Amino acid sequence: MKFFIDTANLDQIREAYEMGILDGVTTNPSLMAKEGIKGVQNQHEHYIRICQLVGGDVSAEVIATDYNGMIEEGTILAGLDPHIVVKVPCTTDGIKALRYFSDKGIRTNCTLIFSTGQALLAAKAGATYVSPFVGRLDDIGEDGVALVGNIVEMLRYYDFPTQVLAASIRNSHHIVQCVDMGTDVVTCPLEAIKGLLNHPLTDAGLARFLEDYRKNNEKN
Ligand code: E4P
Repeated sequence: MKFFIDTANLDQIREAYEMGILDGVTTNPSLMAKEGIKGVQNQHEHYIRICQLVGGDVSAEVIATDYNGMIEEGTILAGLDPHIVVKVPCTTDGIKALRYFSDKGIRTNCTLIFSTGQALLAAKAGATYVSPFVGRLDDIGEDGVALVGNIVEMLRYYDFPTQVLAASIRNSHHIVQCVDMGTDVVTCPLEAIKGLLNHPLTDAGLARFLEDYRKNNEKN
């Protein structure tokens, strides 16, 4: 099971990396905008910086929505660093682009997946990862975690090599729920990753151990 961090913020990526648990990074145009990274050249340099920091898979999303534009942009992105995974939206042109990239040996992440049928088409087209959006489904009263489970089951049943990358994770509970569903990867905000560590019994137990040590070792 792999942990990706869902941000373009270098400090947060570094912090997760230094915890020793980070396998990769996902970005999207909104996350790049949040960091104020403007212009294609700066964005490319930012992706390279992220790749150098992490040494794992880094999803970089195409902006083009037409097939030719996606191919052109995705080929440039893939050429920036061997760790780049080209992120492609789940549309008709996106599915065609996934097939093109797969045939060329370029790894892909099919994003904006909200149904098992979309994941099926992306897997058939050779996507390396499919990204069901958990939080955004929950936001509209649907069950994002259940979708992750359905996609995991479908891909395993048919023995697709495509990995499920649970995205749009909003909290630590989402992470645990997606792991229960057998997801291959979760991509999460840093706070949701850190939240996994919180347990009052750990805090209380540690305080007790330290207190007992102190009492046992204090001078008479
Ligand atoms: C990552 O691949 C997705 O773009 C991201 O998880 C979306 O998250 P959001 O729904 O919180 O914007």
